[in-house]
Amino acid sequence: MSVAPVAPAIAPPGPPLWLLAEVTYRCPLHCVFCYNPLDFAQTGRGEELSTADWLRVLREARALGAVQCGFSGGEPLMRDDLEELIAEAHRLGYYTNLLTSGVGLTRERATALKAAGLDHVQLSFQDSTRELNDFLSHTKTFALKQEVGEIIKSHGWPMVMNVVIHRLNIDHIDRIIAMADALGAEYMELANSQYYSWAHLNRDHLLPTSAQIRRAEAVTDAWREKVADRMKLFFVAPDYHEGKPKKCMNGWGNVFLTVTPDGTALPCHTARMLPGLAFPNVREHDVRHIWLESEGFNRYRGTGWMKGACVTCPDKEKDLGGCRCQAFLLAGDPAATDPVCPKSDRHGVVQAAVAAADAGEVPARPLVFRDPKASRALSG
Ligand code: FES
Repeated sequence: MSVAPVAPAIAPPGPPLWLLAEVTYRCPLHCVFCYNPLDFAQTGRGEELSTADWLRVLREARALGAVQCGFSGGEPLMRDDLEELIAEAHRLGYYTNLLTSGVGLTRERATALKAAGLDHVQLSFQDSTRELNDFLSHTKTFALKQEVGEIIKSHGWPMVMNVVIHRLNIDHIDRIIAMADALGAEYMELANSQYYSWAHLNRDHLLPTSAQIRRAEAVTDAWREKVADRMKLFFVAPDYHEGKPKKCMNGWGNVFLTVTPDGTALPCHTARMLPGLAFPNVREHDVRHIWLESEGFNRYRGTGWMKGACVTCPDKEKDLGGCRCQAFLLAGDPAATDPVCPKSDRHGVVQAAVAAADAGEVPARPLVFRDPKASRALSG
């Protein structure tokens, strides 16, 4: 594949407002839609930054203007130094989020995290039924998550529940919202799976039918009326069904800075798979250089890199050409128009995937669960 020249940024970027610290790829769960890279278990990928490295990254990003810091993974609670990292983030003035499966969030740990200044916990469930929750994560964690929900409430955090929605659980959406309401959630993210990484690998099992999406939206709307201000419901439709590209990550290198467990800095958590791009590592460069100077962050900033239908599109400033990772996965070219856009010359691949889902086609290959053995097999 030919490599496009580095496009200059149209204007100097603002600060990386949102720092996502993916502190580990270790995870007790094995979700079939995990957004961690397929090759997360490849040699070197799991070599985690030290506590001192993370403390430096937190300071450098804050100095550049970052205001929100999400601690994610894998399961971030696998790191013993999480309390220390959160305490420093809090001292620096970040609003801190913990994105967790709940595994490891004991009462003692919750108390320590509260004392460290943690502002917000997002708890993920896989489903409202024990059977499907435990099947999709390949663990027995349903009862534990219910307990963790109670621990979160009793520590005074707002309860934010996240459920990744797909063909296998979307018809449970009424029960899923009822479960969140019963647990006292203030916010509920019904995040339809986006098809990258493990979800892309398993896409033809997971992509809902168009009718399922319509029903789920109607059920969510009915709950919105019922719960009014008690719980805010966010239903994020899948790109494949939306028929229009999204301004992915709010624009490449515009707002989000992800740092992976081994210190690679990325504009989004799946960008490392894109060919022809070198992403810097926080072990070698400071965050200012990474954000402002590196090729990896500058390549798809603005609109100067666009080609094909994007060049003359009146919406190009609005959607910035959609998602670069999706363009690579579906069109083989990260600079292509995102194929979810009807103007893309590869839009047919998206239509074919939706048509196959609507026809009830199920692939012969079984679901692949995210685990180190599968990762090593997939990355050769
Ligand atoms: Fe990487 Fe959209 S997920 S640019």
